Amino acid sequence: MKFFVDTADVKEIQELAATGLLDGVTTNPSLIAKSGRPFLDVIKEICAIVDGPVSAEVTATDHKTMLAEGHKLAGLAKNVCVKVPLTMDGLKTCKVLSGEGIQVNVTLCFSAAQALLAAKAGATFISPFVGRLDDIGQDGMELIADIIAIYSAYPNLKTEVLVASVRHPVHVVSAAKMGADVATLPPAVLKQMFNHPLTDKGLAAFLADWAKTGQSVL
Ligand code: G3P
Repeated sequence: MKFFVDTADVKEIQELAATGLLDGVTTNPSLIAKSGRPFLDVIKEICAIVDGPVSAEVTATDHKTMLAEGHKLAGLAKNVCVKVPLTMDGLKTCKVLSGEGIQVNVTLCFSAAQALLAAKAGATFISPFVGRLDDIGQDGMELIADIIAIYSAYPNLKTEVLVASVRHPVHVVSAAKMGADVATLPPAVLKQMFNHPLTDKGLAAFLADWAKTGQSVL
């Protein structure tokens, strides 16, 4: 399973990339706004830090302008993955860009029917938003299971399932048990995954016992 980080905060990306566990980055217009920095500069900087796909989202809603934006974003670095919304114009744009060999992440997916359309449009990634479905009382992980079942039934569909709008490590574990290809994690969730109180307790006991020996490894 690949781990992307869902942020436009370059410092945080640097810190997490240093773990060697990062396979890519996703951004969206809200995350860019939160960073308070120029969009194109941020994307170029992230692409230089991480080798894997870096999603940069178009902001137009019509096909012609989306396509022009997609070409501009794709020209920033070889690992840019153009992100388009799951609308008719977005999928038309996806079809053209993917036909040109440009990676495309189709975002704002909330149904299996939408995911099927995105795969037919040649999306590299489909991004179902599990947390936002949970927020309105629907089961986000059930959507992931449905999409995986559908894509598995048609091996010619190459689109990878990128679990987005992740709120906690349980989402990640559930997605991994289902065999989802990717999860994009807010930095806080990725950091939570390292933690367990018994790890802290056990380490404290080992260190206390080690100190009693008076030895040193180095
Ligand atoms: O980047 C898309 C998605 O991960 C957004 O998540 O937390 O705003 O629902 P959230």
